[in-house]
Amino acid sequence: MRSNEDLYATAAALMADGKGILAADESDGTAGKRLAMVGLPNEPEHRQGFRELLFTAPGIEEFISGVIMYDSSMRNTTDDGIPFPDVLTARGMIPGIKVDRGLRPFQNFEDEQVTQGLDDLAERLKEYYALGARFTKWRAAYTISTVTPTPACMEANAVMLARYAALAQEAGLVPMVEPEVIFAGAHSIERAEEVTMHAVQTLFTKLREYRVDPKGVILKTSMVLAGDAHTEQSTPEQVANATVRMLHMSVPYDIAGIVFLSGGQAPKRATENLNAIGKLGKQVWPISSSFSRALEEPFLTEWQGKEENTAMAQKALLYRAKMNGLAQQGKYNPKRDVQAKKSSVKTGSQD
Ligand code: 13P
Repeated sequence: MRSNEDLYATAAALMADGKGILAADESDGTAGKRLAMVGLPNEPEHRQGFRELLFTAPGIEEFISGVIMYDSSMRNTTDDGIPFPDVLTARGMIPGIKVDRGLRPFQNFEDEQVTQGLDDLAERLKEYYALGARFTKWRAAYTISTVTPTPACMEANAVMLARYAALAQEAGLVPMVEPEVIFAGAHSIERAEEVTMHAVQTLFTKLREYRVDPKGVILKTSMVLAGDAHTEQSTPEQVANATVRMLHMSVPYDIAGIVFLSGGQAPKRATENLNAIGKLGKQVWPISSSFSRALEEPFLTEWQGKEENTAMAQKALLYRAKMNGLAQQGKYNPKRDVQAKKSSVKTGSQD
């Protein structure tokens, strides 16, 4: 059997202390929603320009260990003709790629979805590796209501995630497995904990059954917190306690690491919650962040699609990444966070 040492090394580099992973893997449609926030039309050149500014922000590699891209940006180049994966690699950031093909209705189950994309995955993974990718992401999403998510939906998605993870490891790519519990909703933190625990436990049962090597897996999960429409919003301490408890009840101790998505939380709130988790001290797994909206919103707020704002926007991204790097170590001080006073562009949903 092939050795997985390269996978372990990639995963360890992604989980480096003080760093997070930038999720810039919005589909072309969702990237268009980001551009619309700053008044730009959803055209390839603007998507390329947006990503180029993110990836080339001066100093960003100090706080970002890897970047998740979407198929089109994996094949994109800078204005100077350098492929995006090469730009990242040259700066010491690891190129990653979202390989699922989005959510589709789960027949016979109202309001539930299953993630597709397995059919030609082995061939695509080979190509992505050749293009420079060293890790991948696959996202399943669960909305909480009184009747969802069902065990059947979590089981179907876990099978897909496990098949994907096995294929990714075979291709020499670290699988980032993401069972996202959606923040939008009126659910309590207790319900969020119960659902997240069920989803993550179901996932790891399948990963084990499908003989995925845990040491070459990164879990990307939601923080446990009350829904955005719940009457009582969770404090950072509540989020940290519930999240870490859920992880200890659900995640094998030998996986390579755990990262959190921001899920539509305001950037500062995501940082504060990450910091509260960091303050609980070292856990058995390395823990960090893999934010999209919470990193891109400060950038977009400054940028507004205008060239003359580029330097300020890149500084805003760097600042947020630095705050998250401190939070990852439990060393962030919200009172000193100057960005917190500014209003942010609200980016809407993620895929
Ligand atoms: P958010 O941080 O915006 O939730 O996105 C992370 C992600 O990759 C979701 O799949």
